[in-house]
Order: sequence, then structure tokens, then C-alpha cells
Amino acid sequence: MARLPTRDEDISSRHFAWQECRIPELQDGEFLVKTLCLAPAPAQRGYLEPGYSDFLPALAPGEVMRGRGIGQVIASRHPDHAAGEIFVGSLGWQTYSIQKPRGAEFVFSTRRIPRPVQPLSLHLGILGQAGATAWFGLLEVGNLQAGDAVLVSAAAGGVGSVAGQIARIKGARLVVGTAGSDAKCRWLCDTLGYDVAINYQTENLHERLRELFPTGIDVFFDNVGGDILDAALANLAMHARVVICGFIASNYAAEPQPGPANYSRIVYKRARMEGFVLFDYWNRYQEAEQALLGWYRAGLLKNCEDVTDGLENMPDALGELFRGGNTGIKICRVAPDPEQLTGE
Ligand SMILES: NC(=O)c1ccc[n+]([C@@H]2O[C@H](COP(=O)([O-])OP(=O)(O)OC[C@H]3O[C@@H](n4cnc5c(N)ncnc54)[C@H](OP(=O)(O)O)[C@@H]3O)[C@@H](O)[C@H]2O)c1
Repeated sequence: MARLPTRDEDISSRHFAWQECRIPELQDGEFLVKTLCLAPAPAQRGYLEPGYSDFLPALAPGEVMRGRGIGQVIASRHPDHAAGEIFVGSLGWQTYSIQKPRGAEFVFSTRRIPRPVQPLSLHLGILGQAGATAWFGLLEVGNLQAGDAVLVSAAAGGVGSVAGQIARIKGARLVVGTAGSDAKCRWLCDTLGYDVAINYQTENLHERLRELFPTGIDVFFDNVGGDILDAALANLAMHARVVICGFIASNYAAEPQPGPANYSRIVYKRARMEGFVLFDYWNRYQEAEQALLGWYRAGLLKNCEDVTDGLENMPDALGELFRGGNTGIKICRVAPDPEQLTGE
């Protein structure tokens, strides 16, 4: 990372510098990983500003940008990792990394993938963080039931594109998504099986929600916050569940954002609004992975990746998330998948 962005700046390549250096020799307990793909995530913006990540300290200029990715072990002096293994973890925005699994960054999600599925990017997408976030958010926090009427915001984003598919598969009677363009709205309905998609940039969201949910929204899976949350709160069903997954509309806004004006609806509708963090579910991660893989293999769950090629394009790939430039799960391919994989 070359310099910190200011509050009102879009994140882009001007905040990063490309640096080449020699790979140091491995020490005992270390292994060398070749990066194959990385997933930009809105939370990564928080690593660039002190005080914005609750989990990890902000980076200083000159440090390697943090980022989750899939890699292959190339050489190892670690007793539990051997060359050829596929590995998911905090690889950083770099072509190779030396890993030594301990410390804060390794607490949550770093692990060998015993039976890799190709393309390997699936383990960052529908079988990875995006899929597990949608799964636990919708089913555990949202307590989704067959017959529910469901609304998903940022529905054409990474988590949202999986959440809508899960709601459909689990028998929701109505699945509605919001997105920022007509093309994304068509994609949601034609490709992912959403019943209706609302372009929140051009349509009157309050009116559309009133029309579409005459008996109210049972589950609102919110990735956005702000005005979309407010409009959803105004249209809740009795005993609705509001799942707060993210708040990308207000997270990095230049000015402090007001709270939802329709907060009182939570009381009148006896609704529950609950935030969650995926890391809390890591010990149950395989439960989600197995179910999502089963649906993927059965053709029920679509892989919905939006791939950018080249590590040098990672800063712009991250910036796209804040400009609505992605359709589906944003992945950056750094190197091709290996032809031969070792697995259990
Ligand atoms: N709780 C957890 O454990 C957890 C885990 C992972 C992610 N998250 C959160 O979940 C959300 C989705 O994550 P993701 O990785 O899948 O990203 P994503 O949805 O792919 O994020 C990008 C999308 O958000 C929408 N967006 C961006 N800025 C916006 C704004 N100012 N107002 C309204 N919409 C805006 C854009 O879509 P449109 O404008 O086209 O709708 C954009 O394509 C994020 O808020 C993320 O921080 C939470």
C-alpha cells in the first residue's frame, strides 16, 4: 500500500505501489504459497484507515495489502503442510507469500482445502466466504422458513447473489433483490432466479416494496444500510427478521450518516434486527460448504463470479465494489489453476 485514501476518495491504483523483491529462504515452521486468486472485499477498505476495522489493525504505507486468497503450497518446512496442497487464507496482495500459521490473521479462516473443487476460485466464492456469509446470515440469523417473503439488498453483489439463490432453494415464496442498474436487475431474474429485482437508482423503492410485499417482508438480508434499510423497515411483516450483514452505503461515507427513520417499525412489527459476523461460525463452516457444494453439483446453485485478471488490477477490482461495478462475486485471478491437484 502506497498511501492512505482520504475519506471522500474512491479507492484505486493510486493508493498502491508495485514492488518486486527476492523470496526469502524458508525457516522451520514456514511454507511458501503461490497465489492463484484473491477476493477483494468491502472490509478491505477498512484496513486502509485507522479505526475502521474491528478485527485487524490498519496497515501503514509500505506494508503488503491484506487479502484473502487461494494458493498452492510450493515448498514447505512446516510439519502439517506439503508442496502441492491448496490453501485458503490471508495471502495478501502478492504473487507469493511465506505463511507461518499463527497470530491474529490466522485465527479465523486459514486452512488447507482437503478436496479442492475447480475452478479453485469457488472456494473464495459460493463455497467460501460469500457463500458461508449468505448461508449463516439467512438461515441462522434470519431463520428463513419455506413460504417467507424475502428482500436482499446489493442482491447482485457477492453475498447477495448467493443469498437470493439460497432463499429460492429453501422455498421462499417471494425473493426480491435491489441493485444499481437495469442490467444487474435482469441478471438477477434471468440467471439467479430472483422473482423481482428493483433498480434502487431509478425506481421508487418505497412504492415498489409496498406493491410487492402487501403482507410485508418476512426476512430482509441487508448488505447496504442507509435509505434501503429505511424503506425495508417501513414494509416489515409481523415478526420479521432483519439481518444486518453489511452497511456499505454508510460505512465509508464522508459525513456521519443518520440512523434509520423507520426504526419504530421494529417495535410495532415485533421484529428482530440482528447483526452477525461470519467469523463466529467458522467452527461450523463445513456444514455450509457441504450443503452449498451439494446444490452446486446438483445444478441448483450457480457459480456467479465476476473475474478480473492480473494482480496489478486488484486495486481497481476493490474500488469497483464501491462503484457498483461488479456483477456477482468479485474475484481477481493472479495465476491459472494448476493442471494437477493433490487431494484426499
Ligand atoms: N457480516 C459479515 O460477516 C460479512 C461478511 C462478508 C461481507 N459482509 C458485508 O456484506 C456486504 C456485501 O459484501 P460483498 O463482499 O458481497 O460485496 P458486494 O455486495 O459485492 O459489494 C459491492 C456492491 O454493493 C453495492 N454498493 C456499493 N456501494 C453502495 C452504496 N453506497 N449504496 C448502495 N449500494 C452500494 C453495489 O451494488 P449495487 O449498487 O448495484 O446494488 C456493489 O456492487 C458488504 O457490506 C460487506 O461488508 C459482511
